[in-house]
Amino acid sequence: MANVAIVYWSGTGNTEAMAKLVAQGVTEAGGTPTVIQVSDFSADRLDEFDAYAFGCPAMGDEELEDGEFLPVYDEVEPLLAGRKVVFFGSYDWNDGEWMDNWAYRASNAGVDAIETVIAKDYPGGDEADACVELGKTIATA
Ligand SMILES: Cc1cc2nc3c(=O)[nH]c(=O)nc-3n(C[C@H](O)[C@H](O)[C@H](O)COP(=O)(O)O)c2cc1C
Repeated sequence: MANVAIVYWSGTGNTEAMAKLVAQGVTEAGGTPTVIQVSDFSADRLDEFDAYAFGCPAMGDEELEDGEFLPVYDEVEPLLAGRKVVFFGSYDWNDGEWMDNWAYRASNAGVDAIETVIAKDYPGGDEADACVELGKTIATA
């Protein structure tokens, strides 16, 4: 069964909550989730896993968080081509443009995210369900 890395950065806990819901979905699908703060992840851990869910909220001006998340993501992105990847994250005042930007840059690097899930602030209701489904998707991809 799939070993899924769920690698995230979260300033106020919303993306962290999403990460836990993704992990729930992985478990429900029979996979093994490992939830990892991005500061504990690096390219040399990629081969421990079969699939990857990366989580980062909208920060800056529709950007990825650049203190901890972006340096690690910049390092691993060139190595993700051909691997099973999904993205998730929380936002607030815009409409999710940062996720479009993220998926676009990934695509240019040869990384086609199977699916992306965004949640406005704390993931509730349908957004929480979508996170669980995302976990099932990546565990069975
Ligand atoms: C410095 C900063 C920049 C942000 N930039 C954006 C943005 O560009 N677009 C947006 O929709 N939300 C933006 N937000 C709102 C966060 O994405 C939102 O609060 C999110 O829920 C935080 O997730 P977290 O709890 O996982 O840190 C920003 C928040 C902060 C603190």
